[in-house]
Amino acid sequence: MCGIVGYIGHRDAAGLLLNGLRRLEYRGYDSAGIAVLNGGLKMFKQKGSVDELRRSLHDAGNPLNGATIGIGHTRWATHGDPSDRNAHPHVSSDGRIALIHNGIIENYPAIKKELISKGVHFSSDTDSEVLVHLIESIWSDNPGMALEAAVRSALYHVEGAYGLCVISEREPDSIVVARKGSPLVIGIGEGEYYIASDAAPIVEHTKKVVYLADGEMAVVTRNDGFAIKTIENIAREKHVSELEFELAEIEKGGFEHFMLKEIFEQPKVLQDVMRGRVRLDEGQVRLGGIEDYLDRLKLSSRVIICACGTSWHAGLIGEYLIEEFARIPVEVDYASEFRYRNPVITRDDVVIVISQSGETADTLAALRLAREKGALVMGICNVVGSTIARETLCGIYTHAGPEVGVASTKAFTAQVTVLYLLALTLGKGRTMSRNELKLYLKELNGIPEKVERILKQNDLILEIAKNYKDAGNFLYLGRGYNFPVALEGALKLKEISYIHAEGYPAAEMKHGPIALIDQDMPVIFIATRDNSYAKVLSNIEEVRSRKGKVIAIANHGDDEIGRLADHVIYIPPASAPVTPLLSVIPLQLLSYHIATLRGCNVDRPRNLAKSVTVE
Ligand code: AGP
Ligand code: GLU
Repeated sequence: MCGIVGYIGHRDAAGLLLNGLRRLEYRGYDSAGIAVLNGGLKMFKQKGSVDELRRSLHDAGNPLNGATIGIGHTRWATHGDPSDRNAHPHVSSDGRIALIHNGIIENYPAIKKELISKGVHFSSDTDSEVLVHLIESIWSDNPGMALEAAVRSALYHVEGAYGLCVISEREPDSIVVARKGSPLVIGIGEGEYYIASDAAPIVEHTKKVVYLADGEMAVVTRNDGFAIKTIENIAREKHVSELEFELAEIEKGGFEHFMLKEIFEQPKVLQDVMRGRVRLDEGQVRLGGIEDYLDRLKLSSRVIICACGTSWHAGLIGEYLIEEFARIPVEVDYASEFRYRNPVITRDDVVIVISQSGETADTLAALRLAREKGALVMGICNVVGSTIARETLCGIYTHAGPEVGVASTKAFTAQVTVLYLLALTLGKGRTMSRNELKLYLKELNGIPEKVERILKQNDLILEIAKNYKDAGNFLYLGRGYNFPVALEGALKLKEISYIHAEGYPAAEMKHGPIALIDQDMPVIFIATRDNSYAKVLSNIEEVRSRKGKVIAIANHGDDEIGRLADHVIYIPPASAPVTPLLSVIPLQLLSYHIATLRGCNVDRPRNLAKSVTVE
């Protein structure tokens, strides 16, 4: 979910808005746009960076200059490709209302259908555009209504998450804003007001802010200040807070690195993955992007998952999940191996490609090969409109938001969550009853809060990291669902700290790696209470008796492990299929801290690129 800025006052709005958008760039985005009121409504938007927008405006003779009210947006596409037409603001058919929106309007298809039946023409593929047409349609049915009331009644029809700002020629001295699930802050200046999705664009102008709570709206006016009400039209008294940080601190949302910020975003990301897809009370999962192919997916004789790096690790967990919940045989391949080994693929196969960036060259090549051979090719991507997302027949977006840190963290947990939902969808009605499905969904629904609890142990994990920052090697061991987590933990450590690390299934230790164990070898065991727990305990004993250092990831309430391990990081108990979403979190934090203690550039590790578009 991306950036919002708004300004109303006495200074040049366009310049302030562009500057504000630049302050929000740390969030990652794909397009930017601005609308101002200056006599009439004027708008400029395009795909690309804020700097490119600034240049285009300059080349066009700065047509937005001179206005003192306006709104600006950086978009991170969720619905519709990143493109000029899909960039925000969106404008009503009469060209007199402009809107920017962060979040997702879940029921936009139904609203869009109804508006189209009334003759409304849409100019973008976004979910957001329905809002501006809905406001226009309500307003034209009720000509005497205030903009605020029209926005309010539009929001009654909307399901989903939003932070939004609306301006209109008809009320040139006010900005209407509303929030549900997507943050908004109002900054109070001297005879001027700022609006933003976080304080980054505000702090250089004023430290006095009011945070909107979920379900609140505000009308911000030039002369009369602002009034906050709930969406149900009940007035709210708000107290003014003082920003307690400086600009430099919030460029990364208050975190020292993007990676840490992204690790901490995971509880919210997991909720975003489920948003609009999971109906807990009905025991329903709706994955819109694969609905038309669901029958064929369920009838497939085999699923082949292709991916690279972290996405490949998510794929391994996908294998366990799909085999367990849907009883369809699954193979997982490195995309780079798959494409060159002349694989046997039939028309009954489903090939799932997983990619955060949606641009990884090897994964793209695997996808094209699978298509050529007639398999049904499905994508799991984070970046909307990416090449892989476009070339797959159907797919599921992970909705993890932009991932800037090169080391993938939140994209991984989002991919695993999507695979969990996919496995349940494939199993439903074949191998799984509605009641079982309900139980599994309930368990998943509780995960974000459990992740939150693990994140609270960040300081403890930092302390543990201090003991190992000079290690030369690491071994990561786990079984079952925790085996791919061991691989992912080892990859995280090596890519950002440059310490050699290997992941193994715990039982494989005795077939070779045990030869490496001595007092200088830290071994991370993921020893949660599942059906291989007792066996993993024996492996820990084996390491201890060879003087290896043991760091265990175990469940709360497990006292036994405290006696065996040098350090224990406890995570809340959960059933095996959802455990990776928890057990990976301490490993991400441990790698992060070890790397920063070693002085490494965690966001931009040497030799690595965020998206590997070469073979
Ligand atoms: C993850 O931390 C790595 N930087 C890398 O392994 C990555 O997962 C891999 O390159 C695949 O990228 P993708 O998900 O964008 O396709
Ligand atoms: N869902 C909207 C879109 O795709 C808003 C995305 C955002 O939050 O930037 O345009």
